[in-house]
Amino acid sequence: MKRIGIMAALHGEVAGLLAAMGAGAEVRRIGGRDYYSGQLLGSECVIVLARVGKVAAAATAVTLIREFNAGQLVFTGLAGAVADQLRVGDVVVAESLLQHDMDASPLFPRYEIPLLACSKFAADAGASDLLARCATAYLQEDFMAHAGPDLCRRFGFEQPAVHRGMIVSGDRFINDASGVASLRAELPDALCVEMEGAAVAQICHEYEVPFAVVRTISDRADDSASLDFSAFLDQVASVYSAGILRRYLEASAVIA
Ligand code: ADE
Repeated sequence: MKRIGIMAALHGEVAGLLAAMGAGAEVRRIGGRDYYSGQLLGSECVIVLARVGKVAAAATAVTLIREFNAGQLVFTGLAGAVADQLRVGDVVVAESLLQHDMDASPLFPRYEIPLLACSKFAADAGASDLLARCATAYLQEDFMAHAGPDLCRRFGFEQPAVHRGMIVSGDRFINDASGVASLRAELPDALCVEMEGAAVAQICHEYEVPFAVVRTISDRADDSASLDFSAFLDQVASVYSAGILRRYLEASAVIA
């Protein structure tokens, strides 16, 4: 059975899963991060807080692959909406990921990772299909009840949807209308923006390890993004990650 490495940038994004792993988890501290290993819903897992940004995510991904022999990585967390059709509370499962702040031009084309000759990394199709099915089922069957009427009213959730497509990552929290407008203009296929996924994608490409990324939309990457993000992180992020990944781990255990 493949060991699944589960990563998130912030505690609120994996708190529910860590709680589910419980006191039986083995904890190893490497490079200032705690890696929690154990069985979770029938799957062998390692859960870790990667922290924020591409360097932190890449370093953590390498540790999961080399020290823990992870055969698959899944990154879960929040993202800012870039595409118009996305609403706060929707979920995005990556088909591909790109580093929007990579620019070694004129030596290499904009966005291309020097010496890798590619700018977009494809997520594993099988893992991503399963994640999207689990996210859809969770949103349709359980989410509104789990979140409860108060949170649904506060955040304006009606029936959140799952989207699939390109996620872009960079070392910048996008918190202004002009920042998100430039992303939209320069990368018209981008669905949402975050700060880690494409770095994990690059490492997984280099080590030939399958990976998937699932993000919940917490804000519109506009002038109120930081306030919206913080409220979402405190109040709802963990509900989503735990709800979707629980189903994913159960389904992965059945397939293995
Ligand atoms: N993660 C969640 N919201 C984000 C934003 N607006 N910019 C970058 N990363 C994010």
